[in-house]
Amino acid sequence: MPAIVETIAPSLNYALPMASKTNARRPVDLPVFSSMAVFGGWPERGALGHSGEMTHPRDDLANLNDVMDLARSEAERYLAALGNSHVRTPEAETAAKSLRGPLPSKGDGAPTALAELAAAGHAGAIRSAGPRFFHFVVGGATPAGLGAEWLTATLDQNVGMWAASPFGAELELIAVDWLKELFELPEAWGGVLVTGATMANFVGLACGRRWWGLQHGVDVDDDGIASLEPMPVFSSGYIHASATKALGMLGVGRSQVRLFERDERGRLDIEAFEAALERLGGAPSIVIANAGEVNAGDFDPIAQMVDIGNRHNAWIHVDGAFGLFSRIAPETRALTEGIENAHSVISDGHKWLNVPHDCGFAFVRDRSLLGGVFGATASYYVGGGDEQPNFAMLGPESSRKARALAVWATLRAYGREGYREMVERHLALTRRVAQQVERADDLELLADVTLNIVCFRFRPAGVPESELDDINLRLGDAILADGRVYFGTTRFEGKVAFRPAIVNYRTSESDVDLLIEVVRELGAEITVDR
Ligand SMILES: Cc1ncc(COP(=O)(O)O)c(C=O)c1O
Repeated sequence: MPAIVETIAPSLNYALPMASKTNARRPVDLPVFSSMAVFGGWPERGALGHSGEMTHPRDDLANLNDVMDLARSEAERYLAALGNSHVRTPEAETAAKSLRGPLPSKGDGAPTALAELAAAGHAGAIRSAGPRFFHFVVGGATPAGLGAEWLTATLDQNVGMWAASPFGAELELIAVDWLKELFELPEAWGGVLVTGATMANFVGLACGRRWWGLQHGVDVDDDGIASLEPMPVFSSGYIHASATKALGMLGVGRSQVRLFERDERGRLDIEAFEAALERLGGAPSIVIANAGEVNAGDFDPIAQMVDIGNRHNAWIHVDGAFGLFSRIAPETRALTEGIENAHSVISDGHKWLNVPHDCGFAFVRDRSLLGGVFGATASYYVGGGDEQPNFAMLGPESSRKARALAVWATLRAYGREGYREMVERHLALTRRVAQQVERADDLELLADVTLNIVCFRFRPAGVPESELDDINLRLGDAILADGRVYFGTTRFEGKVAFRPAIVNYRTSESDVDLLIEVVRELGAEITVDR
């Protein structure tokens, strides 16, 4: 009954909820290591199985309820310990190896397979969904996001063609609308969900490349770029590696981007940037503006870049993989002033939205470009259009999982205010870390805090500058091996530095306080041994 099928998802489309629900806070405990001791150790290979004769998944249907029970109870145990576990377990690098062996000729069925998998997962999984994973920029999974992800696997919708999943496609339209509301982007823009910010950068820059080609009278998606001069691409030293990678994937070339840097940090040299655009004399170009760079969470001067770019016929792409969320909090709202006048803007779901991997979003001012870049024809492809989109024609993948379920569910569950409260709490936690760094006589804050990253290094008294990089590199390794808190090193203005990033909805004051304690404790040990 298609009429029913096609009306369920629209019924979920109302205004982005405003109601705020403060996240439940976990009791503050000292972390204790949870591993095989808690989870009962390894099963013998095949020991939990039935006959060793399972050859067809259909025969396993009788076990389906057991399989669901097992997945649920294993998830419960993992999640119950998540808040108090070490981030890294001693088996992190060996647990998966225990699952090696020759391809089974006959299977043991799902209960055995899943029990083995769960045991190895408990032993080896990095607790990146927990509150003390500060490496890279990785969020957790809100209860709503996690539950929706389970449903996503159960419903197993392919949101490529409308006909394959009107429910998934309609929900993606709704999710994109809600995200535009959340980020205050113009209603008329198009959007699509992808695997993460790398692919979102690819989508935005692919649309920019199409626009640039059309400005020269060439349909680059049909005819390629060989007939054209190299595409001018401008950015600051804050550009993320994934945007450069996207330029490579697009055939524009990684080295094609010109970076205008005024210092070792990579901050934009705005005069040189504007002069380069002026020299193009109105010829089209691409500008990549960075809303949140990974070393210190700093921003390009977005409003000025957008203004200059628009005066010189540039396509302005904004990478806000995590920084776009600064728009939700009044105190950081100004950092992204002007993005509504850009041409493509991207962000990530598995970072600050705290939905499970993998999820990112690309928004594009001229939605028709998406179809121009990603369209494909085959006689069995039918339908499409704004009302009943084939998302396979609007993004890079043809078959696509229903990422919108987790996005919709988490926004429905916590609303704009829930996310504002979370971002504001993370901003306060970040300032708290920075203050502790400033107060400690063996730590050095290397950059002002703009958003959710603290850039600092260990600098004990009496250690010469020439030894600090080595000490901080060793300390970085020690922090990862210790596993109570988790973050890595970078190079900032030539110095080895730490850059913990706070985006997990579970993170509390005691978690960030432990971060500083661990650095000082392990740092002191390394300094004594040096
Ligand atoms: C600014 C920025 N852009 C892009 C990316 C790539 O994101 P993803 O790993 O989700 O593809 C990141 C990841 O940290 C990032 O910080």
